[in-house]
Amino acid sequence: MTRRKMLIGNWKMYKTVAEARAFAEQLGRSAHLLADSLDYAICPPVTALQTLRVVLPTKVALGAQNIYFEQQGAFTGEVSAEMVRELGARYVIVGHSERRNLFGESDEWVRQKVHTAVASGLTPILCVGEDLRQREQNETMSVVERQTMSGLSDLTGEQVATAVIAYEPVWAIGSGMTPSPEQAEEVIAHIRRVVSDTKGQETAKQIRILYGGSVKPNNIAGFVAQPNIDGALVGGASLEVESFVAMAQAMAGGEQS
Ligand code: 13P
Repeated sequence: MTRRKMLIGNWKMYKTVAEARAFAEQLGRSAHLLADSLDYAICPPVTALQTLRVVLPTKVALGAQNIYFEQQGAFTGEVSAEMVRELGARYVIVGHSERRNLFGESDEWVRQKVHTAVASGLTPILCVGEDLRQREQNETMSVVERQTMSGLSDLTGEQVATAVIAYEPVWAIGSGMTPSPEQAEEVIAHIRRVVSDTKGQETAKQIRILYGGSVKPNNIAGFVAQPNIDGALVGGASLEVESFVAMAQAMAGGEQS
C-alpha cells in the first residue's frame, strides 16, 4: 500500500484567534490549490481550535500541540485529550523537543501521552530527534531508537500503523540548518526499521514518518522525494498562507484538486 503524504503545520505559540481566523479565511480562498492526494493538518494554539474548526477548509484537519495524559482532575493549566477532541482536533503532537527540553517532558511522560491520545481516539504525532551534541557524538541513531521504542511501547501494531512519527533534529528547528534529504532519509529509514523490529513489518510499512526542522517551500520537495519520508512537520513556514500553499504544491508536484 502507498502511504499518503502529509503536510502538518505546527504553529507553536503564534497567532491569536483573530489571526488564526484571518489565516483560515485566506487559505479557504486558495483551497483549490491544495491537491486531494495529500493529507493536511494545522496544529494551532488550543485557543484557536474552535474557530479553525469552523473556518478552515474541510480538507485541512486540526491537531493539538500537547495534551496531559490524565483524563481529568486537579491539574491546573493542563488540557485533556477529550477536551481538544471536542474542539475538533484529530491529531496531537506529543514529545516535541520544545516540550522535552523547555518543559522537562521525559520519555516516560511522552509514552503516557501517546497512550492516552490513542485511547481517546486522537492520532499521535510522536516527535523524536537528536540535539547537536548527540549528533556530534554519533548518537543520532541510538537517540531516535530510544525515543521511538519508548514512545510506542504501550501500543499494539495496529495502533502504531495509524500513528505518525516526526523526525525533527533539534539543531534544525528554527535554525535555517537542515540535514540533507539523504541524511534525513537514513535516520527515517532507521526509525522504520525500529518499528519493524518491535511492531512487525506490516506496521512499519503503514506508519507515516515525517521530517521536520527548517522546512521551507524551496527545500520540501527534496525531503518528500525520499522513499521513507512521508511528508513534513513545519513550524515557521506554516504561519503564512502563501508558504503553506507553496509547500503543498511543491509536495504534490504541481497537481491540483
Ligand atoms: P521550524 O519549521 O520553524 O524549523 O520548526 C520545526 C518544528 O519544530 C515543527 O514542529
